[in-house]
Amino acid sequence: MFAGSSYVLDNDAPTARQILGCLSLMLDEFSIARLAPVVPVSGRCLELGAGNGSVACWLAERVGRYGDVVATDVKTRHLRRHPVVTMLRHDLAVEELPVGPFDEVHARLLLAHLPSRLDILARLVGVLRPGGLLVVEEFGYAGRGEVLAGVGRAGVEVYQEFQQALADVHVQVGWDADWAVDAHAAMRSAGLSGVDTVTHARSWRGGSAGCLLSLAISRELRQQLIGVGMVAGELDHLADLLTDPALVVMGDLLWSHLGRRPEATQEASAVPATSDRRERDQSDGGWPVQAGYPGSRTDQQ
Ligand SMILES: C[S@@+](CC[C@H](N)C(=O)[O-])C[C@H]1O[C@@H](n2cnc3c(N)ncnc32)[C@H](O)[C@@H]1O
Repeated sequence: MFAGSSYVLDNDAPTARQILGCLSLMLDEFSIARLAPVVPVSGRCLELGAGNGSVACWLAERVGRYGDVVATDVKTRHLRRHPVVTMLRHDLAVEELPVGPFDEVHARLLLAHLPSRLDILARLVGVLRPGGLLVVEEFGYAGRGEVLAGVGRAGVEVYQEFQQALADVHVQVGWDADWAVDAHAAMRSAGLSGVDTVTHARSWRGGSAGCLLSLAISRELRQQLIGVGMVAGELDHLADLLTDPALVVMGDLLWSHLGRRPEATQEASAVPATSDRRERDQSDGGWPVQAGYPGSRTDQQ
């Protein structure tokens, strides 16, 4: 764990590659669908806490060779290389941000771990160009670890106990369980306009990415989970469940918040910020309606 961070997992741990890979498999399709309509070709992007760099590489393909993507992480060993991506070992909690301005800044599953998240948010707004976008995505609670099919009562109890213990471990070290929801208001308070929130969750079978993520985390945090009340036998039972294709669980809810730094002046806002037609069409501060995300909520300011 780093100063100013409650991130309990570690990119140097043997499970890290699997954890980051599962996150990419679980979330990239959704995150990319959010980003695709609003990231400009030839733009400058900042990907924070980039993990294995899967989103940074997508951004790089999107902005193309005249664009620029800076991907940061406090531990960069799993960051995939790409000619358009500049990799930076960087601790967001304590270090200066890379020099802006950026057209887009994205932080997924990061700020909830950093107690100084409101100060960081203000700094992130500061490196956006006028009209630029901040996208913050975080896991929030999705019930108590719902089991949809496949195991008996004992299995359900073990799975739900694991979900509760995992939340306890994170909360003990300062993870903010409410940040996934609170980020919307925080982004408005930080001066962003047109803040828009969409949530996403889906079911996962035993052996699929959503369950293998839980398996890898339960292995890495075994001692901490035992420290908050789980017993070794339950964790062994959990491991069997998570690889059993008969099991189906409901995954965590990802909250995706997107807001724009207002244009500096009225005159500036009249000029399209990018050559992207779809983005130009949103120059009133609203967002493209994205098929498949009916929960979208937009606050016009
Ligand atoms: C849960 S992973 C998410 C990775 C990636 N954003 C994703 O969603 O797939 C959190 C990442 O943030 C990084 N991280 C943790 N604390 C950080 C800090 N203070 N500054 C920068 N990165 C940090 C971790 O090393 C890890 O790669």
